[in-house]
Amino acid sequence: MNSKSLVSITDYSKDKILKILDAAADFEANPNRDLLKGKVVATLFFEPSTRTRLSFETAINRLGGRVIGFSDAANTSTSKGETLHDTIRMVSNYVDLIVMRHPLDGAARYASEVGSVPIINAGDGSNQHPTQTLLDLYSIKKTQGRLENLNIYMVGDLKYGRTVHSLLMAMSHFKPNFTFIAPDELKMPEQYKVFCDKNGIPYKEQRELVGIENADILYMTRVQRERFQDLLEYERVKNVYKLKNAMLDGTKDNLRVLHPLPRVNEIDVDVDSNPKAYYFDQARNGVFVRQAVICDSLGLI
Ligand code: CP
Repeated sequence: MNSKSLVSITDYSKDKILKILDAAADFEANPNRDLLKGKVVATLFFEPSTRTRLSFETAINRLGGRVIGFSDAANTSTSKGETLHDTIRMVSNYVDLIVMRHPLDGAARYASEVGSVPIINAGDGSNQHPTQTLLDLYSIKKTQGRLENLNIYMVGDLKYGRTVHSLLMAMSHFKPNFTFIAPDELKMPEQYKVFCDKNGIPYKEQRELVGIENADILYMTRVQRERFQDLLEYERVKNVYKLKNAMLDGTKDNLRVLHPLPRVNEIDVDVDSNPKAYYFDQARNGVFVRQAVICDSLGLI
C-alpha cells in the first residue's frame, strides 16, 4: 500500500489525527492557497455522493489544483467490463492522487495496493469513511472544545453505517462513553463491540430514542435503503426514529446534533433552527478537513 494513502481511519495514529485537525483549522482560517498548483487529482465515484465529492472538489479547487473523474461509473469503461484493478492502474498514470468511493467493502484497500499514487477512501460499502470521520472529529472538537470524555449517542443504522464504524474506532483514542440506539435489525455489529471491549470503552445498547439528557453528541444516521438485500426489512425499519425539536428539551446546553447527511426523515426539519443542530456546519467543515488530508497525502504539510 502507498504509505500516503488513507483507506481506514486506523491508518492514522492519534498524533496524525490531531495534526490533520490542526491543519484543517488553518485551512478554515485561510482556505484559498496555491498548494496544489500543477497537481491533478482524480475523483472516482462508483457510488452516488453530494457532499463528499463536491467538498473534495471544492478543496482541490481552493488549493489551485485540477480535478478529473466521474460521478457515475455507468459512463465509464467499467460498464464494458473493465476491472477495478485496470481502472486504478490506468488512472494512476494520469494523476497525483485518487479519491475513490466504491460500493464494495475493501475496494479502497485493494485500490491502494494496485495503484501507484496515494488513494483516499471516500467510502467503501459499509466498511469505512475515514474523511467523514475526520470532519466529524473536527466538528466535535470545535463544538465541545475537546475530544476526550464525551457521551456520544449513535442512532439509526449502526449495522451498515460506515460513518459510525469509522467514528467509533477514531474515538477510541479519546475515552468516549457510547450509547448505541438501533432496532434489532440494525444493531452495532459484534466486531465493533468487541473492539470497544478490548479498548476498555464503555457502551450500552437500547432500542428507543429516549434518555438523551446526558448526551454531548447525538449522532443521527439514515437507514440506508441501498444496503438492504431484503427490501421488506428496509420497509419495516425505515421510519424507526424521527428526532423532533421538542425531544431536545432538557438536553445539555453543549449537546450538538450531528448527521453525516443526506437525511431522509430521521431528523424533522423543525430541528434545523435549533442552535443544537450542527449538521449543515458539519458538512461545511468537510472542505477544510479534506484540504488537510489531500495536502498530507501529497506531502505538502
Ligand atoms: N456524508 C456523505 O458521505 O454524504 P454524500 O453521500 O452526499 O457524499
